[in-house]
Amino acid sequence: MNEADQHAPQAPETERTDDSTGSRLHPRVTSFRSRRGALTDAQQKSWDRQWPLIGADVSDTPLDATTWFGRDAPLIIEIGSGTGTATAAMAKAEPHVNLVAIEVYRPGLAQLLQHVERDEIPNIRVLRGDAMDVLENMVAPGSLTGVRVFFPDPWPKARHHKRRLLQPATFAMIADRLEPGGVLHVATDHADYAEWIEEFGNAEPLLTTLDWESPMTHERPVTKFEDKAHKVGSAITELIWGKIRE
Ligand SMILES: C[S@@+](CC[C@H](N)C(=O)[O-])C[C@H]1O[C@@H](n2cnc3c(N)ncnc32)[C@H](O)[C@@H]1O
Repeated sequence: MNEADQHAPQAPETERTDDSTGSRLHPRVTSFRSRRGALTDAQQKSWDRQWPLIGADVSDTPLDATTWFGRDAPLIIEIGSGTGTATAAMAKAEPHVNLVAIEVYRPGLAQLLQHVERDEIPNIRVLRGDAMDVLENMVAPGSLTGVRVFFPDPWPKARHHKRRLLQPATFAMIADRLEPGGVLHVATDHADYAEWIEEFGNAEPLLTTLDWESPMTHERPVTKFEDKAHKVGSAITELIWGKIRE
């Protein structure tokens, strides 16, 4: 391997996981860490009130967003919403969109539910589970106006790169689920992951430079995770692509 190759992002080996229940079109990516965390009493109470109204577990059932939100509107998903700081602020700034936050970490979702309840935010729904399953099983091709991925876990060690959420197969899946003209918005504070994301995003044939107006804002409030990155002086890379419009 020459010097340049050593620094170029390497695509993880693809382990096709065809199985008897159907063929997965992408290698199985487990991009999250298992984290436990108890809810506070206030969070639990808010959860008990809000979850039946706006929460659901990730499943194999296709998402009927129009029924779930009670209206037809541009649909945006946020993958790995954490504590939902950006989710809540962006939903308030974009009352015309339906926003689905996807997160595996229950205490993070609980904080978002509290925020939704406190500020009476009508256009957020939350899915608990693996966003890869949402993309694969719940979201129809060409159905998303936008996908947001803010500060995905960087998995910095080379042996863990296969756990990075944003890799070629995920870009292909996201691009397929976006409608023509739909937008993928990514932010990261990790320089090496930023390079990797940019290279693989640019290589996805269905994604291109966004040079048209989209109904989705790119104004992003500082997320909880980003706040920590700022404190240690990390540079933030913002990456935005549009799905080709045919
Ligand atoms: C570093 S945190 C960033 C959280 C938030 N976006 C922020 O900026 O504060 C990454 C989050 O993504 C979540 N995550 C990672 N992979 C995921 C997946 N496949 N499905 C759902 N959530 C995921 C993790 O649980 C974690 O909360």
